[in-house]
Amino acid sequence: MTVSLSTRDEPVLGAFRITGGKTFYEAQAVEIIDQLALPHTIKWEQVDTVHGAFDAIKTMKSLRASQGTEVTYASHPQIRGAPAIASLAALGLAAELLAIQTGRDSPSFSHSLLSSPPQDLLERILERCAYLFTSRPTAVNLREALQRIEVAAKAEAAKEGATAESLAKKVIDVAVGVWVEDKERCERIGDNGAKWILDKLEREGKIEKGEKIAVLTVCNTGSLATSGYGTALGVIASLHTQGRLLHAYFAQTGPYQQGARLTAVELASLGAPHTMVCDTAIGALMAEKRVHLFVAGADRIASNGDTANKISTYQISLNAHHPHPFSPNPPVTVLVAAPLTTLDLTMKSGREIEIEQRPSWEACTVRGRVVDPAKLAKGEEVEPAREGEEIHVETVLVTPPGTKAWNPAFDVTPASLIEGIVTEVGVAEKGAGQDEYDLRAFVEER
Ligand code: MRU
Repeated sequence: MTVSLSTRDEPVLGAFRITGGKTFYEAQAVEIIDQLALPHTIKWEQVDTVHGAFDAIKTMKSLRASQGTEVTYASHPQIRGAPAIASLAALGLAAELLAIQTGRDSPSFSHSLLSSPPQDLLERILERCAYLFTSRPTAVNLREALQRIEVAAKAEAAKEGATAESLAKKVIDVAVGVWVEDKERCERIGDNGAKWILDKLEREGKIEKGEKIAVLTVCNTGSLATSGYGTALGVIASLHTQGRLLHAYFAQTGPYQQGARLTAVELASLGAPHTMVCDTAIGALMAEKRVHLFVAGADRIASNGDTANKISTYQISLNAHHPHPFSPNPPVTVLVAAPLTTLDLTMKSGREIEIEQRPSWEACTVRGRVVDPAKLAKGEEVEPAREGEEIHVETVLVTPPGTKAWNPAFDVTPASLIEGIVTEVGVAEKGAGQDEYDLRAFVEER
């Protein structure tokens, strides 16, 4: 299987693509790669409605129980990663507005709304935004994108001479902007982060000029989590492109296995040297191997720098700061990579961040490709799936039935454990002797 994900030169926008040589405006839909199926199967699914976007972000699935009753259950999302969630929500809304512009009714909007006063369409748009907002709670990028749309929509509707047509057009353009701008932003984050860490390590005498560095990351923060290139994985991609990446270690990232399933695919497609590390082996890795940097993404960063990110980011950051007595490492630098849209300046600290709890059963099960373990033990290669090929994937219970798991999707790493927060406009650092950031000042100064 060659999974071609977006790098700087490829036409696919991260987790998204538009087929048939069309623009989003012409297609009135976007396709997303089904991240539940990766890495075993490459499956693209079309999203052209608000409900479709909501569903892919939250992923509510229906099971037909044996008595014929429908049971709805929450599964891991098909699209995930803070910036990608925001982009898809915006595109789902835009797709429906494009549909009514071509004279069709869409599930959310009757075509006749276009000939009604703009206030009627505005009301419906705001209601749809409120619905999308409830899909997942922790990543702030979703709220930021929806607020941006709401503000633009209200301003357009209040303009002298505004029509429902002009309102729809405005909302479509702002929504598409959420998606397109994200990729460009990510490239700047990657380059800013790579420069910052290399300069810092050289300045501190921890590496020689031009020396390569080893990096550890967690979860998936690359093309699949954004509109392209990625945040923390973008820093790694930039180091690799500059010939300065010695090795990329990535945490398996249970229970959803974003590292094992998704980051593994992305690093392979970048051609970067990489090794997976079980979440339980992070301490041992830092005790035994040279690691210069731990770089993580973020779902929400409070104004003091406290950062919510994938569960285990906190314990890895703690490890990074407390080198093992046998370790070849001085404390490992911790860098958070995120766009400005991930900063939540309304929150003073990470205490205020709502952490999504995932269902117990998700932590008690493993989902994967069915293979013959004897073949693996003999070192035989498993044939990669070809595009479109159906692979036998199963969910298996690994706990005794009835076991209950506490399963938070994210944790909060305190600002005191983070040396830098790299964004598209530069790197925020704490003042000398400070334990916290002043991100409001950082943003205002730019
Ligand atoms: O539950 P997920 O997979 O949506 O969690 C994703 C993360 O925690 C990422 O690190 C974060 O969204 C940053 S992605 C650029």
